[in-house]
Amino acid sequence: MKIAFVGKGGSGKTTLSALFIRHLAAAGCPVIAVDADINQHLGPALGLSDDQAAALPSLGAHLPQIKEYLRGTNPLIGSADEMIKTTPPGRGSRLLRIVEENPVYASCARPIALDEGSVRLLATGAFTEDDLGVACYHSKVGAVELLLNHLVDGRDEYVVTDMTAGSDSFASGLFTRFDLTFLIAEPTRKGISVYRQYKEYARDFGVNLCVVGNKVQGPDDLAFLRREVGDDLLAVFGQSDWVRRLEQGAEPPLHTLEPANRAVLDLLRARADQAHDARDPQRYTRQAVTFHVRNAESWGNAKTGIDLATQVDKDFVLGVDQLDIAHA
Ligand SMILES: Nc1ncnc2c1ncn2[C@@H]1O[C@H](COP(=O)(O)OP(=O)(O)OP(=O)(O)O)[C@@H](O)[C@H]1O
Ligand SMILES: [Mg+2]
Repeated sequence: MKIAFVGKGGSGKTTLSALFIRHLAAAGCPVIAVDADINQHLGPALGLSDDQAAALPSLGAHLPQIKEYLRGTNPLIGSADEMIKTTPPGRGSRLLRIVEENPVYASCARPIALDEGSVRLLATGAFTEDDLGVACYHSKVGAVELLLNHLVDGRDEYVVTDMTAGSDSFASGLFTRFDLTFLIAEPTRKGISVYRQYKEYARDFGVNLCVVGNKVQGPDDLAFLRREVGDDLLAVFGQSDWVRRLEQGAEPPLHTLEPANRAVLDLLRARADQAHDARDPQRYTRQAVTFHVRNAESWGNAKTGIDLATQVDKDFVLGVDQLDIAHA
């Protein structure tokens, strides 16, 4: 399962993705947590100290090595330098699984022990002052797109990504790489406007989107969300004293989360599992190719000096049945 948390800045993406990650880990599910936000907050939200979070390896810095690994013996990709973030896998490519050891995890993922269970965290890397505007952000999240396009996952295994706020994610194909996207919305006009914008954009790509209300304080908030979001509203997470205590530096155990909010996490998981059963590997692969060809034409061919459309292996479909081939 590939799951994204998106929404307006400050809506609670990091809080709810961290809680969802902890919830899955507590149930014994393998989870890879991915911090793909410009502001890297997922590590601390999972209990890392600031120093530990600052010491996390960044995917962005390991991109050449990641490409070299994923390329494997794919004859359509001449070298790692010819790979761009959307270069799709094909026969000979190395695929990643959620539960395995591989050089990418060894250099980029860090294990985090939680009060119940544990997860691995991958982080795109901080967006520093040296970075020149939004282009650098895209090259950093490009690593996530590349990984997701090479990742084969089964039911009850999860990749949970804390995404950047608002519409930045539309500039790449990343927003189409998830089986399910949770849009976190506060019961405010701004929260709803980000939802509308996302939905509008996502519609053309068949993105599986549902809304999770957050910081909901009472019946009026709930009525507002129901009215504005309609059937896309999956659940509402309440204004939480437990979250507030966390924010104050306490480390409340997960099992002490308010029962109503814990029930929301159950609902999220049930919805994710439904999405898994409904997914379509052919379409997923086709969309990867669409974004690749688009990138190739708009900048990739010029940058690499070759026709990147030739990297597409037309007979390849990303799915669990590829695993045996990949690991033969
Ligand atoms: N349900 C909740 N109850 C109480 N406080 C909450 C709740 N959800 C989030 N918060 C608080 O709201 C603030 C913003 O939450 P969070 O950092 O998770 O949002 P975000 O969407 O990840 O923000 P950013 O866009 O900056 O990454 C935090 O102080 C968090 O503790
Ligand atoms: Mg955040």
